[in-house]
Amino acid sequence: MKGLILCGGRGTRLRPFTYSGAKHFLPVANKPVIYYIIEALRRASIEDICVVVGDREQEFRSKLGDGSKWGVSIAYIRQHSPLGLAHGVLAAEEALRDETFVTVLGDNLIMHSIGDLMRHHTGTGAEGTILLSPVSDPRRFGIAVLENGRITGLVEKPEKPASNNAIVGMYVFSGAIFDAIKRIKPSARGEFELTDAIMEMIREGYLVGYRVTEEWWSDVGYPEDLLAANRRILKETKGSIQGIIDSNSILGKKVVIEKDAHIENSVIEDCVVIGSKALVKNSRIGPYTSIGDGSRVTNAAIKNSIIMENCVLEEMHRCLDMSIIGEGSVVIGNSETETSGLWIGRDSIIRSL
Ligand code: TTP
Repeated sequence: MKGLILCGGRGTRLRPFTYSGAKHFLPVANKPVIYYIIEALRRASIEDICVVVGDREQEFRSKLGDGSKWGVSIAYIRQHSPLGLAHGVLAAEEALRDETFVTVLGDNLIMHSIGDLMRHHTGTGAEGTILLSPVSDPRRFGIAVLENGRITGLVEKPEKPASNNAIVGMYVFSGAIFDAIKRIKPSARGEFELTDAIMEMIREGYLVGYRVTEEWWSDVGYPEDLLAANRRILKETKGSIQGIIDSNSILGKKVVIEKDAHIENSVIEDCVVIGSKALVKNSRIGPYTSIGDGSRVTNAAIKNSIIMENCVLEEMHRCLDMSIIGEGSVVIGNSETETSGLWIGRDSIIRSL
């Protein structure tokens, strides 16, 4: 089987971070979202991966290269306009027409085993297999309606949901999906929907199966999702210390200090990762915080936040909370009040909040 990762799209909901780069490279516990997907495909023994890209093609090519870093081979396919998920899949027709392939949305973190979904697909002899997850707010998702173990309906973000089975962004398809996509029309929101194409397959009489997952997953669509995913992954992290910690510093549980990081006279609470070559001095970090490689944090308190690479944070005596600071940004001074929900893009400078 081959893999297909969909990374076209505009990423408007993650502005300002997506003004300067694709959302797929935003860090969760200091690791870009798409790395988790490539690693999961590799774990399922998938070595040939197609990545559908849009305007950010160059960024993907330079950051992922030929995939050899992960022991996989990556090919790039250009989707000329972000006309919907089904349109993105169709862009890969030439490469995947004669294959069975696993499709993953490039902004999704999904803990369910890809190998399990593949085995289920092969075992049932289906032409398509989707992953479902019971959710409490089905209006936000594509929803599957099931009857007697069969999928009878798929609806994008229904106003009156007939079930709470959300469609998770991981699918297995045969080449039959391409013909189905060619038969569908754009939806009310103007996109070629993958749910419509799968429904079209079912109407044509193809067997489309499903698997229900109990595992955690998230689509990283909004900044809040990025923070929640960061929190979740940090919670699962095993501690490891490779950097240098002075005798005046205290470390909590599940703390990762990467190589050549320096911790001086600081308290590092539970569930924190400090990237390589970062400096943390006279500060309190965490819980649930990631500090990117090469960042410098001095005289600051930070919790529940993502500080990307090469940032400088100083004199943040009132805690910085639930914040995302883009790569290379400088934030100095919040003497008056706690700062919560500060989202600033790449290379910004803020003095005296
Ligand atoms: P979405 O999050 O639905 O869309 P988007 O990335 O354009 O974001 P926003 O709504 O904030 O503008 O996309 C889910 C994934 O699918 C994401 O990794 C991008 C990818 N995608 C494509 O490959 N092609 C497309 O035409 C679209 C719409 C999305």
